[in-house]
Formats: sequence, C-alpha cells, structure tokens
Amino acid sequence: MKSINIGLLGFGTVGTGVVKILQQNSGVIEKRLGAKLNLKWIADLDVERDRGVKVDKNILTKDASKVLNDPEVNIVIELIGGYEPAKSFILQALKNKKHVVTANKALLAKNGSEIFETASKNNVDIGFEASVGGGIPIIRAIKEGFTANNIQSVYGIVNGTCNYILSKMSDEGRPFNEVLKEAQALGFAEANPSLDIDGIDSAHKVTILASLCFGVRVDFDKVYTEGISRITPIDINFAREFGYRIKLLAITKRSGNEIEVRVHPTMTREDNPISKVNGVLNAIEIIGDAVGENMLIGRGAGDMPTGSAVVGDVIEISRNILNGGVNRVSPLSFLSKYIEDAKIKSISNIVSEYYIRFSVLDKPGVLSKISGILGNNSISISSVIQKGRGEKGGVPLVVMTHSAKEKDIQKALSEIDKLDVVLDKSVLIRVENGERG
Ligand code: HSE
Repeated sequence: MKSINIGLLGFGTVGTGVVKILQQNSGVIEKRLGAKLNLKWIADLDVERDRGVKVDKNILTKDASKVLNDPEVNIVIELIGGYEPAKSFILQALKNKKHVVTANKALLAKNGSEIFETASKNNVDIGFEASVGGGIPIIRAIKEGFTANNIQSVYGIVNGTCNYILSKMSDEGRPFNEVLKEAQALGFAEANPSLDIDGIDSAHKVTILASLCFGVRVDFDKVYTEGISRITPIDINFAREFGYRIKLLAITKRSGNEIEVRVHPTMTREDNPISKVNGVLNAIEIIGDAVGENMLIGRGAGDMPTGSAVVGDVIEISRNILNGGVNRVSPLSFLSKYIEDAKIKSISNIVSEYYIRFSVLDKPGVLSKISGILGNNSISISSVIQKGRGEKGGVPLVVMTHSAKEKDIQKALSEIDKLDVVLDKSVLIRVENGERG
C-alpha cells in the first residue's frame, strides 16, 4: 500500500487530537484512501511533555526546518497558531512544493491572499477546514456542496466560548463577569479571554467565510467587531419578552454591490433554529439563491472535533496526490483571476431593526421626547416596554424599531443621550430576522 508522509508542526491540543485520530482511525482511513498516512515528523518546542498519546521518540523534533526541508514529506500540518513563525513556515512549506493543512484563522484572516496565491503558484493544495467551526465541514460545504449557488448570506455562531457564556447568562440570569470567571475555572474560556469575548476570533472566521462565499479579498481591519462584555441579564430578559434570544453572530451578506461583514451581539427570533443552539456548540447558516436555507451545527473547538477537520483535509489532499487531482478546487473555490477586493459596507450604512434600552427618569413626557427624536431621524418604533415605577436610579425604557439606517440610529442616540431625563448611555442591540422576514 502506498504511503503519504505527513509532518506536523505544533503538538498542542489540536495536534494531539490529530495524532490520536491518525492512530485510532487508521483502518477506516486506509479503506477510504487506499493508502497509509504516515506521520513522519512532529515538531514542537517542547518534545518532553506527556501528551497522553504514544509516539515514536524518533519522530519528535524541536527543529521545524527538518519537517519543511524533508523531501519525503508530502503534507505539512501547521497547528502552531498566531502570525509568526506560523506564516513563514507555511510559506516555506508551499515554496518547497509541500501541501499544507492549517487551522490558523487569525493568520488566514489577515494574510490569506498571500498564502492562497503562494499555494496556487506552487501548484500545491492548502486545506483550512479547521479554521472555521472546528469539526463542522463548512469550508468544504461552501467550496463544493453549495458551489452552484450565488450565496446570499451567512449567519454564524462561530465562537463556542461566547455561546457558552451567553447561554449560561440566559439560562441562569447571571451577569457576564460571574459567568466568564466560572467558564475560565472550568477551562471553557482562556485565561486571557479577549480574542473570544471581544468578538475578534469570530471576526477572523467571518473574514474567511466572506472570502469563500463571495470570492473576494476581505480587509480584516474593515470588519465591524463588537463583543459580548456589555450584555446584561436585563437585556437578555427584555429580549425574551419580545420573543428573541441574544447570540454573538458573525454575519456576511450581499448588499447591493457591497458586502456586509460584521460581528456583534444580535437578537434572533426564538423560533429561528440558530436561537436554539446553546452551550459550546457552533452553528452556521448559509443561504444560497438556489438551495435556500441550510444550517450546520457542531463542535467548534476541541482536540478531536478540530482534529477531525484537519485529518479530513489531509485525506482530501492525499486523494488529490494519488489521483493527479492537485489544485482540482482552488483555495477559495473561485479561480484566482476572478478574485477582487471586497467592497465592504461600513457599519453606519447598514439597515437593520434595533433594540434600544434607555435608562430614564420615570416622569411624564419622557417617552414623547425620545419618540420625537427617533421620529425626526426617520426611525419608526415597532414596540415599547417600560418597567418599574419611580425608582431613584431611573427605569428602563425599551424600544424596538422597524428597519432603520444605522447612521440615523446613531445620530438619534447621540441626541437622546444628551437629554437631562436620560441617566445613562443607551444600549443598542441589532435585531436580525434573516431572510425569514
Ligand atoms: N476559541 C474558539 C471558541 C475556538 O471559543 O470557539 C477556536 O476557534
């Protein structure tokens, strides 16, 4: 039986999952591939630590160049993460005509174009299924399963940490900071949680999704990104009263000749399937012009789910090597000559429905002042709730709007927040009813 040689860079959580899958599932993999996957090298700065998986000591090395320069290595798996040295290693592997599999969403979000172009120029494949949605095969679904469609929009819960925190806050009525601390103690959130809770990890992933769906280069710095740290149980409860849940959504959609690419807490209708995806699970809804709505749900992180995506890419590339199919599908599935810079709509130009919570003095005339300013800015109200009576610290007044321009909303809020009857900065959450209306 033929062998495909693999070099692994990075023996951390996902690297260990990859090794376990290659060992445990070698039988089924060989039956599907008709060849053996031979792990020839594992490079990591720490080659002493027990990873809970047995490997031949002779394949461990601290020196990545042994992997990158070994002429027998066919596929390099990069699981180091971050920008450097991961980027240099990937580029060197591609230039050495090695196929590459990576889970590195941060790197692909910022330097994807350079990496994909280098792969195409060197006539080698690059797999990055594990970069979005962990074990969910969303990249392959977009590149191949939905390839007949003009994709219209994508709505994703692509960060398990945020989904876990928001689900707990919603189920138990507890504040953000308390749930975050508990999640850190249980190992569900990083000691430095910023990448997750500030929405940056989701922004990396939606950048990759937008490039794939629309065949464009996306400037990561233009992706509007807002995290979940300002979400409170008060807003979660009001959302529920209006029939909504709050999720951190990564959204990309066509909007005229522009595309929207944004990440922010979003109110989604409780009967929308995405509202029911709780805990650490991820979910990605794709809407195509021919196929309509589709949703994939699964584990977005962890050694085995992410390892499943990595090894899936290794198998696909091995099939291409064995059957002369390298570069059968281009990295973004669009041919590189058609890939253009994305025209990204700025957040102030989007149109959405909005939830706005004002903290106001409870006295006559306040609602009419606020609704007057909203009206003067062309914002139409769909519902209002006011709770409490005569409390010193003010009472919440919640307004749901019909579709409005974000720039009108922002202008109205800056006027309203200056009123002497308004006690605190107002809270705004975008409402997404998707294509369901
Ligand atoms: N930190 C991510 C999450 C997983 O919480 O979902 C890795 O992409």
